[in-house]
Amino acid sequence: MEIIKSPTKKIPVLPSLNSIRYRCSSAIRIASKHIAISPERPTKRKVADNDLYPNSPNKPISPIMNKSVEEFHPSYSIKDLYLGKCLGRGKQGRVVHATLRNKEFAVKILHKDEKKTGEMEWKILNRLKSPFLVHSYGKIMDSDNMYLLLELMDGGDLFHLIRKRKLNIKEITFISAEIVLAVEHLHNQGVIYRDLKPENVMLDASGHIKLVDFGLSKIIDDDRAQTACGSAEYMAPEIIRRQLYTYSADWWSFGVLVYELFHGHTPFRGESNKEVYQNILRGDIIYSRSLDATSKDFIRSLLNLESEYRLGSLENGICDIKNHPFFRKIDWRVIPERLQSPLREHQICKI
Ligand SMILES: Nc1ncnc2c1ncn2[C@@H]1O[C@H](COP(=O)(O)OP(=O)(O)O)[C@@H](O)[C@H]1O
Ligand SMILES: [Mg+2]
Repeated sequence: MEIIKSPTKKIPVLPSLNSIRYRCSSAIRIASKHIAISPERPTKRKVADNDLYPNSPNKPISPIMNKSVEEFHPSYSIKDLYLGKCLGRGKQGRVVHATLRNKEFAVKILHKDEKKTGEMEWKILNRLKSPFLVHSYGKIMDSDNMYLLLELMDGGDLFHLIRKRKLNIKEITFISAEIVLAVEHLHNQGVIYRDLKPENVMLDASGHIKLVDFGLSKIIDDDRAQTACGSAEYMAPEIIRRQLYTYSADWWSFGVLVYELFHGHTPFRGESNKEVYQNILRGDIIYSRSLDATSKDFIRSLLNLESEYRLGSLENGICDIKNHPFFRKIDWRVIPERLQSPLREHQICKI
């Protein structure tokens, strides 16, 4: 059994769970001992805190010198790369604004200890080509870090947007439809994403989404995965139960995300990861009274505890998701063209 090393924390051994009397208690006990738990989800996250260069908020600073450029696009010169303000931080690294030959980019900086994960992320990024997945331009190594040069997403992330304001149903179905196409592409390429959550859904200035962060993704092709990883609140029950799992785990996380878009919080919460896992395995979901029946049915079908009966994993696969009445106003032929978004420019949290 493969056990992943958590990027920032060693595997925590949780205290005895003897007091737990739920029918799922044994599954939780096994899971709690072995799962590489991602850090507790922050309720607030500072983004543009410019922790990298505190004295020069937006000003480009000195170029990175003497980097190996052999894997870099030949038309770019490393001496033109200037690192600027911090755009975001995650479990593995920080992402900063960068300028190269008057073009703007985002650079994900991973410490050399994260090199293995960074190499995998780079490999996966190179496998993908979708308007709904962030584009990568190159990578640079130096003695301390690995730098992934990414397309700049200048509309902020979904995490901040949904905390800033309530989205309407038109916006929610639109964002959800673009995410479905992003996940569909990943699965078609044999990649399970494993980290679908609002922090990893970025917006551009025109109000379209792209997924970032393939640090936990895995190429499984026709195989199954067993590594327990992801963010607790979005983790599928089969991962918590330490079962073999497949692409349907992403559709579970998608269900959690759609719920969150409506409610402003996730359906399974708790004081600790252990409590979150218990709530997930119990499967009780409280829906807002204002939620319409169609959206509720859609979320409920995605949040099916049994992965083989989950929407997206049935006989018709992703077609069941696309054909659900939740998407009745979505024209799937038009979505890939990234035409007009219901999210207007002034409604997006610009960086
Ligand atoms: N291409 C990008 N453009 C702008 N901001 C980004 C980009 N990629 C990531 N970010 C920001 O940086 C944060 C951390 O990046 P991410 O790749 O998710 O790192 P981690 O693997 O550490 O979670 C994201 O949540 C997002 O806010
Ligand atoms: Mg992330």
